[in-house]
Amino acid sequence: MTQAKTPAAPQPPIRTLPDAQTVTSVRHWTDTLFSFRCTRPRSLRFRSGEFVMLGLLDDAGKPLLRAYSIASPSWDDELEFYSIKVPDGPLTSRLQHISEGDQIILRPKPVGTLVIDALLPGKRLWMLATGTGIAPFASLIRDPETYEKFDSVILMHTCRQVAELAYGRELVESLKDDPLIGEMVEGKLLYYPTTTREDSPNMGRVTDNLSSGKVFADLGIDGPLTPERDRAMICGSLAFNIDVKAILEGWGLREGANSEPLEFVVEKAFVGEGI
Ligand code: FAD
Ligand code: A2P
Repeated sequence: MTQAKTPAAPQPPIRTLPDAQTVTSVRHWTDTLFSFRCTRPRSLRFRSGEFVMLGLLDDAGKPLLRAYSIASPSWDDELEFYSIKVPDGPLTSRLQHISEGDQIILRPKPVGTLVIDALLPGKRLWMLATGTGIAPFASLIRDPETYEKFDSVILMHTCRQVAELAYGRELVESLKDDPLIGEMVEGKLLYYPTTTREDSPNMGRVTDNLSSGKVFADLGIDGPLTPERDRAMICGSLAFNIDVKAILEGWGLREGANSEPLEFVVEKAFVGEGI
């Protein structure tokens, strides 16, 4: 005789969990990228550039959480996130189907190194990203503190295809008319989007455009980066982060942390397979 299986305990709906938040809007940018906004927990205080854990309940009713950079600035009433859609990804195969009014789980414990506090004061701030690694910078370029602390802010974002740049491009364009920071951004924020596998006005990897000096020539600014003048934040795949770090170290910049602010900081945009 086979033993009777214990029936699964009924799972609580997300809205009864203490960390439930409500989705307020969703926008799909490509078949692999989307962004969404949700309510902000009253208790959540964060520094622009930090990340939190968010997710949904799995089939067993357990929270399935992943790290997500907060893409909205610290002053915003809501939270914004910019997400990949991994076809078989445990979380994003579901998360990509959320819509306005749905509930997500969000742990209000922000952490991270891509914060201005982890850098020494400097003149120029470089934000170097690939793919969804632009998310923490989407937060920082909307924060007045970024423009109070630096004379210029240079955002380099590289993707394979032009369509993958749309979220960043639209955000940068919208800042000009932003009532809070429109004036601060003017002339201070330099945006350098590039693609590597589809033709666009600017092509090439961040690493190649830094090493060759192309980005300095195209933007009409002094190069290379120096430890006296420049600060940098890196956010991409592990390989990207390692290669950019080597270039910056070659120019004499040192990696800092919250506990020891120096000339640049690094964070993984995601954890790759086998790493
Ligand atoms: P997972 O099992 O987590 O991932 C499956 C595979 O998909 C990974 O092994 C990797 O090869 C690939 N992958 C996962 N995430 C990405 C990505 N973002 N870009 C390219 N390939 C990826 N993801 C975001 O979409 N937006 C963010 O703002 C974001 N911030 C993060 C911040 C930190 C500090 C870390 C460590 C990760 C961050 N991630 C972010 C990745 C995120 O935590 C999840 O990995 C992602 O949501 C996919 O979850 P999943 O369960 O569907 O698949
Ligand atoms: P490329 O098309 O030349 O590989 P991925 O989707 O593989 O994470 O890559 C996202 C973007 O980052 C692509 O434009 C890719 O360029 C670029 N990239 C990937 N690895 C590196 C690296 N090690 N250094 C610089 N750029 C990289």
